[in-house]
Amino acid sequence: MDKLDWEETPNLPRRRFLDYLIGGTLALTGLTFLGGVLSYLWPAKKAGTKAKKLVEVGPETDLAVGQGKVVQYQDSSALVIHTKEGLVALSARCTHLGCIVKWNADKQEIECPCHGAVFDTKGNVVSGPPPKPLPPIRVGVRNGKIYLGA
Ligand code: FES
Repeated sequence: MDKLDWEETPNLPRRRFLDYLIGGTLALTGLTFLGGVLSYLWPAKKAGTKAKKLVEVGPETDLAVGQGKVVQYQDSSALVIHTKEGLVALSARCTHLGCIVKWNADKQEIECPCHGAVFDTKGNVVSGPPPKPLPPIRVGVRNGKIYLGA
């Protein structure tokens, strides 16, 4: 049986592994620090710049008087209604617990499917638990197309 000679076993692979581990840790720390410095020098765009952007809803002719539809708007949803008085746009997120409201064309009212709230076409609470009206969103028509944020 051969006797293992521990004194002659090369120690280099373990030492090299530790060198790589320490070097990698230092490199990662350096990159993290560099990323922090670069994000400080070139910060992301300020919040609120999105609010000025126009969002196209579609042709005005697609939304007849008395009709409404929910569309994607910024990071949420908006309800666009074509009333007899003109276009109205409101946040479609219920002010109670955040469910998406829907337009009831037969009753000409906005309803929340979660807890039965009802809003009028101006977003005011008619009945139900919501504590405040649906926030309005600017709406307009350009070249026959409906835009939000106009
Ligand atoms: S979430 Fe709309 S009524 Fe509760």
